[in-house]
Amino acid sequence: MVNKDFKILVIDDDESIRKVLTLTLQDAGYQVLTAVDGHTGLKIFADERPDITLTDLRMPGMDGIAVLKEIKALEPNKEVIVITAYADMDLAITALQLKASDFITKPISTTALEVALERAQERLSLTRELREYTRLIEKRWLDTAEELAKTYHFQKNLIESSIDGIIGYDPEGKVIIFNKASETILGFPKEVVLGKLSVDHFFPPGHYNELKAKLCSSEYGGTNRLTLYETSLVAISGQLIPAQFSGAVLHEGEEEIGSVAFFRDLREIRRLEQQFADQERLLHQDKMISLGRLAASVVHEINNPLAGVLNYARLMLKIMRKGPLTEDYQEKFANYLNLMENETNRCSQIVSNLLAFSRKSELEFTDVTINELVQKCLMLSGHKLRLSNISLERTLQEGLPIVRGDYNQIQQCIINLIFNSIDAMPEGGKLSVTTSYSPSDRIVLIGVTDTGCGISKEDLPHIFEPFFTTKSEGQGLGLGLSMVDGIVERHKGSIDVISEAGKGTTFSLRFPAKN
Ligand SMILES: Nc1ncnc2c1ncn2[C@@H]1O[C@H](COP(=O)(O)OP(=O)(O)OP(=O)(O)O)[C@@H](O)[C@H]1O
Ligand SMILES: [Mg+2]
Repeated sequence: MVNKDFKILVIDDDESIRKVLTLTLQDAGYQVLTAVDGHTGLKIFADERPDITLTDLRMPGMDGIAVLKEIKALEPNKEVIVITAYADMDLAITALQLKASDFITKPISTTALEVALERAQERLSLTRELREYTRLIEKRWLDTAEELAKTYHFQKNLIESSIDGIIGYDPEGKVIIFNKASETILGFPKEVVLGKLSVDHFFPPGHYNELKAKLCSSEYGGTNRLTLYETSLVAISGQLIPAQFSGAVLHEGEEEIGSVAFFRDLREIRRLEQQFADQERLLHQDKMISLGRLAASVVHEINNPLAGVLNYARLMLKIMRKGPLTEDYQEKFANYLNLMENETNRCSQIVSNLLAFSRKSELEFTDVTINELVQKCLMLSGHKLRLSNISLERTLQEGLPIVRGDYNQIQQCIINLIFNSIDAMPEGGKLSVTTSYSPSDRIVLIGVTDTGCGISKEDLPHIFEPFFTTKSEGQGLGLGLSMVDGIVERHKGSIDVISEAGKGTTFSLRFPAKN
């Protein structure tokens, strides 16, 4: 299909040819521009950019070949048809070599002109299509490049922001990816590694080959994969870093294109494991020490009364073997049995103290009025306080909230603290007992303060340990405070102590108020 909506420029010095061509072309529906010589023609061409130019070859001044050259230099895609005489065939061929689209001979035949125009138009539309096609391809290429760049940056970010080390390397082992975490864990800067170091550089000698063999075998997470394998890596300092390693060999079709390794620094985990093991060991040691102390003091405490009981039993047996008991002996026996009962009671007391210390006994929770309980404890210790020449000051805050707890156990705590204070003031002194309430944290506080000997800095960390005592044999088992600590803990309360050697001590018990 010929599209006649084209601009055609006719350049010919022969006016009659210009006229005939103008008429013919306009008649065929083209827009026609005319020029009388080459120079004028080129000017019109520069202004109007006609699609097709028809130019005579022989013209005075600038000839058609020069016009053709200029137009092609200006716009190589515009079509130029040259008009020539039969005698000038050589020129016509030159014109074709210079990319003229066609030539027509004089006298001009309408059919030849139509054919030439049709071909020129076809070439024009082909050029246009080609141009459009090229533009589309270029655009698509740009879009794809942009898309690729985006994906590349995203993946790069992904790799860089990983907290695990990521190392990518080619089939020869040369490192091509070395992310930030790898730098941090191994201490090698990227510039030193990329394209320069081989991956086996980060493993102890021989380790990497071993690892590669595992990576290629199917035993560890599948062929060409290795998952969660524990190994060691070598940092720039030479330090061995325990690491968990996962890796994969990458293929494109059949061809191996490289491998990727992910590794996690296990130092912190190892440190915590070690800490945990140390703690376990210490706890165990502590337990053993406690057990030793317990055995020693129980043996000691129970041995004396038992020895007494044994002696009386032997004595009585000896007397009985001599014959029937005289009245005098009957009275002595009653006395011995009495002493034996006392000694047995002492043993039983020690055993029940130990039972109370064992923290497994069940608690009986009731509503406890702390002030009333404190009064009772003070009453129970009153006699001992007076005997020891200790004055008492009580400051009990009124309207304390109820505490949910085991009455007897809390009483045991307070008595223990009071008795410790009494022991700390053998020359007498002052005992202050206070209660108060802190509404902000809903805590009821019981304070026991004495003006006794105080606790030395060395002893202070140990006073809550079972069997820690500074008292002489038979005076204390060292179980009081550890018992208090256990009881307070089971009431979700707390205990703390402030003490200064030679000045005195304050113990504070805190219990949560009932909701
Ligand atoms: N108020 C206090 N003043 C000075 N030292 C104290 C006081 N309370 C406790 N201690 C120190 O803490 C140690 C441990 O106290 P704890 O009550 O556990 O055992 P204990 O009194 O020695 O023996 P137990 O209570 O078994 O009869 C005491 O031996 C003493 O050295
Ligand atoms: Mg005590």
